Formats: sequence, structure tokens, C-alpha cells
Amino acid sequence: MARKPLVAANWKMHGDRAFGEALARETVASCDDAGVDVVICPPICYLTLVAGPLSGSGCALGAQDLSPVVESGAHTGDINGAMLIDCGASHVIVGHSERRATRGEDNEAVAAKFLAAQQAGLTPILCVGETLAERDGERTEAVLEAQLDAVVAAAGIAAFSRAVIAYEPVWAIGTGRTASPDQAQAAHAALRATLARDDARIADSVRIVYGGSVKPDNAASLFAQPDVDGGLIGGASLKAADFAAIVHAAGGHS
Ligand code: 13P
Repeated sequence: MARKPLVAANWKMHGDRAFGEALARETVASCDDAGVDVVICPPICYLTLVAGPLSGSGCALGAQDLSPVVESGAHTGDINGAMLIDCGASHVIVGHSERRATRGEDNEAVAAKFLAAQQAGLTPILCVGETLAERDGERTEAVLEAQLDAVVAAAGIAAFSRAVIAYEPVWAIGTGRTASPDQAQAAHAALRATLARDDARIADSVRIVYGGSVKPDNAASLFAQPDVDGGLIGGASLKAADFAAIVHAAGGHS
């Protein structure tokens, strides 16, 4: 099946109002025509600011996290999916390794956020990936399977017709050490095979994007892999020209 490429920008905790607004404008201007689904995920406090330049463009707005609680209520500091939609978001990242590592989000907590996102009408971008110790211990496939299985158990396989998966090996994030195209392909194929046990059609149609030190000079070789459907970009998304080069590299493989 031909899957339309998707490239998402994860700005993480960077920038200020002026930086975010300018970057959003430049990103829209340089990415809108690439034949790629583009999602921009700014820090939460800049969501409505970034929604301005994005409105009317082909670029979508995403959040970096959400509360697992669906109903509004006494949850100080939390932001639910309905609020994100109200601010113009259509996507939300769940299970990023930085939150798994520093906020204690285990597979079940991530699955609850995935479910809450979909209940609100958002498309979750589910991050999975192994640490270096897990890779060295030849546990990559088992780790990915467990991360995926927890979400399938909570949300059901059909939920993956309205989701994106991001394979982000922890050892490649922000390190300048990218997975080789073969390593990325092997992991993406393993993820697809895990889903195919439950539903081959959904496994074939779900977009699995790669994240971890994607740069303009390595993007094309990663995106040329048959099971790599785009990218989730951290550092390089903070420079409009670099991000645009990555988006256009994905478009070249659509
Ligand atoms: P880098 O592109 O900076 O390695 O970050 C990847 C990432 O974590 C995107 O979510």
C-alpha cells in the first residue's frame, strides 16, 4: 500500500513567542507544497500562537503531551484532549522517551494517553523505542512489541487506523548518532509484523515514522526504506531550512 509520508516537528522545550511565531511562518512557507503531511508540535503555551500561521495551510498542529483524563475537572496543571482540539490541534505525541524516562510514564500510562487522545478526536503519534542497553542486550524487538502490545490491549487494533507510530531509538535522540537505514527498516518491519498478527490491513496502512538525529543529509536514505514513512524531527525542526529539506526528502519518496 502507498502510504503518504508524514513529517512532524517536535520543538520540545525550546524558544519563545517571537521565535515560535517566526519559525511557524517560515516552516509553512517552505513545506506546504511538498506532498507530505506536516505536523508542528510546539511547546503547549505556544499552541494558539502557532495555530495562527498554520491556519489555512496544509500544515497541522500537534501537542507534545496530554492528560490521560478525558473529562474536565480538578486536575491542576493537566490539559486534556478537548482543550488541545479547542486550541487548533489535530495531533498529539504520546509516550516520548523523554517522558517515559523522566516522568515515569510506563507502557500502561502511555496507553491511557493514547486512548484519551483518540476519545477526544486527536490523532496520537505513539513513540516507541529501545535504549542502548536494550539494543546491546538484543531485546529491541521484545521491547517494541511490549510497548505496542500495551496500546493494542487498551485501545484495540482498529485504533491504529487513526494513529501514527514513531520509532525513536533512545540512543539516537539528540545524540547525532542516527540509526542506519537498515536498523530503522528492521525495527519498522518488526513493528508492522507485530500489528499484522492482529490485522494485516491495518498493519500495512499505518504510518511508521523514524525519529532520532534526522538531518538534511541523512533523511533521504532513511525515508527510502520501504517501511519508513517519514520522520519525527527534534533538533533539526528548530531551523526552518533544515526541516524543509527533510520534509522535501520525504516528499521525494511518496
Ligand atoms: P532529535 O531529532 O533532536 O534527535 O530528536 C528526535 C526526537 O526526539 C523527536 O521527538
